[in-house]
Order: sequence, then C-alpha cells, then structure tokens
Amino acid sequence: MKRSTLIVAVAAWAAGARVEAETKVDFVKDIQPILQESCLKCHGPEKQKGGLRLDSRAAALKGGKDGEVLVPGQADKSDLYRRVSLAPGSDDIMPNKGDPLTKAQTDLIRDWINQGAVWPDTAIAKATEVAVAPPDTGLGGLTEIKPTPAETAAIAKLEASGIAIRPVAMNVNWREANFHTLGTNVTDANLAPLKDVATLVDLNLAGTRVTDAGLQNLNTLTNLVTLHLEHTKISDAGLVNLKNLAHLAYLNLYDTAITDQGLERLKELGSLKHLYLWETKVTEQGVADLQKAMPQVQISRGWENEPAAKKAKEEAKTEAVKEDKKEGK
Ligand code: HEC
Repeated sequence: MKRSTLIVAVAAWAAGARVEAETKVDFVKDIQPILQESCLKCHGPEKQKGGLRLDSRAAALKGGKDGEVLVPGQADKSDLYRRVSLAPGSDDIMPNKGDPLTKAQTDLIRDWINQGAVWPDTAIAKATEVAVAPPDTGLGGLTEIKPTPAETAAIAKLEASGIAIRPVAMNVNWREANFHTLGTNVTDANLAPLKDVATLVDLNLAGTRVTDAGLQNLNTLTNLVTLHLEHTKISDAGLVNLKNLAHLAYLNLYDTAITDQGLERLKELGSLKHLYLWETKVTEQGVADLQKAMPQVQISRGWENEPAAKKAKEEAKTEAVKEDKKEGK
C-alpha cells in the first residue's frame, strides 16, 4: 500500500469510528419534531423568513438569502447548527422568538448533520400529512374556519348522494371528500355542491366522470391540500380552475390527457410538493422545464419504476373490465 493511500484509509477509518461513537440520529424521530415545533412556522410552506424553507432536504440544502445553511457531514460549517447553538439572547439565534432549543436538541442537530443530514423522502410525505391536520400544528398556514350555513347545506346534499365527506381528525372542521368509491357513477352534476365546502382539505375524484367543466367547482376550495384526479377525462383546459389553490401540496394526474401546456398552468401552485404524471402526454422537456421552475416539487412520471402504481393500474384495468361487463359491453 502506498503511504498516501494508507493515510487516507486511516483517516477514513478514524472518521468512521468517531461517527460510531455518537448516537445514531433518526431524522423522523429526532429531528423532524424539532423542525416542526420550533422552525416551520417561519421556515415552512407559508412563510420563508430569511428566504429559507426547512420542510424538505432539497429546500434546506438550497439555503436562504445568505446562501448555504446545511453542509451534510459538517455541522461546524452549517449556519443552521451555528444559529441554534448561539448563547440565548444573541442577535442571530434561532428560533429568534420564544425559548431557545435545549442542549440535547442542539446536540441532536449537530450529530445529525455530522452523520450526513439523512432526510428520507418519505419524511416529506409525512410533513404533507401533518399539513392535512393544520389546526394542531399551524403547518400549512391554515387557520381553522367555521362552516357557513351554505356549507352545512352543501355537505348534507353530498352525503345524501352517497359521498363520504368527513372531518380529517377529531374536533376539527377540516374535511375530506371521497368520490372515488362511487367511481364512474359520479358526474359533474354531483360535484356542484362542492364549491361551498370551504373546509375541504382533501378531495379524491379519481376514477370519476369529472370533466374540465366540473373542475370549476374547485375554484373556491382554496384550503385544499390534496387532490386526486387520476383516471379521469380532464385535460389541460381544466387545470385553469386550480390556480387559486394556494395550499395544494399533492396533485395526482396519473392516466389523464395532460400535456406540457397543462404543466404551464401548474407553475402558479406555490405550495405544490408532490406531482404524479404517470401515463400522461407530457414530454421530457416539459417536465424538465417544470422542475426548473418549481425545484421544490417532487415529480413522479414513470409507473414502470413504481411497483405500487403498476399494481394500481392493473387493478384499475380489471375494475374497468368488470364495469364494462356489468354494462353489458
Ligand atoms: C419566529 C420566526 C422564526 C422562527 C421560529 C425561526 N426562524 Fe430562522 N429566521 C427567522 C428570520 C426573520 C430570519 C432572517 C433574519 C436573520 O437572518 O436573522 C431567519 C433566518 C434563519 C437562518 C439564516 C438564513 C439565511 O441564509 O439567511 C437560518 C439558518 C435559520 N433561520 C434557521 C432556523 C432554525 C433551524 C429554526 C428552528 C430551530 C428557526 N430558524 C426558527 C425567523 C425565524
């Protein structure tokens, strides 16, 4: 072994040994709760103080107005760690209001960064789930609203037509509506009452007969966080109706006729984090342009890489065949 190689090998071993000596930090268990509790109300989907978002690894790596804040493997070069470990009362300390983090918390952040700032992608999905129940977390910037009489009437109407529309958690007004279970029995006419349900955060129209015209009923649903439109006849024109959905974080367009023109219309959706484009008519170039305009969005477009989606597709086909049989085709 050459002398220089030996030095490198020993250094690598020593570094590995040091990491071993620290406790292994688990992002979801140890770090995410700190970010959620102490940082996201100023560095999340709603506000980005100092130009910084801390709700996904990509966003955190992008940094803030003064550049990089997170250097995986190097806590001592990471402004994120410096800011939380300053003496209480310092000008730069984060959080800049309220209680400083405890020593145990700042040590966890230090070790987490030194161990490579592991931040699983599924953790982003988790943050989105939390956003669905905003009243306890303040995440997503949604403030609880009371249903209006028009809304109560609209909900009664939807329920009478067999739509499940229920609170997302106990003691909250936020609701989810699932039309998917009624599938092709659902037409635009069934969607009409939706426009009054302002407390709706989660809407599933997958596999229904909704058209571009039916999507007009979504114009007013400005609190919507999750929207399923997969397996429907909607096209680019319908997406115009989503432009007011400032909190929309999840949009599924799998198996629709969406093209690059439709993607242009999504660029206004500032909160979008997850976009599904399997089996659509978008091009490589269209997706690349969108990704550039919206770096925070995780775009999935190949079901062949996604066993779960493939299975879903096969199931959908079997279902469709059954439907056809039922209808005597
Ligand atoms: C009450 C609001 C608030 C909270 C909570 C908060 N911050 Fe900040 N943060 C700010 C403001 C305002 C700035 C920009 C001014 C500055 O640079 O001090 C900032 C800037 C930063 C910056 C520098 C960004 C840059 O590049 O300029 C980092 C890093 C940071 N915050 C990390 C955190 C972390 C980590 C937490 C949670 C432990 C946190 N902040 C909690 C308000 C907040």
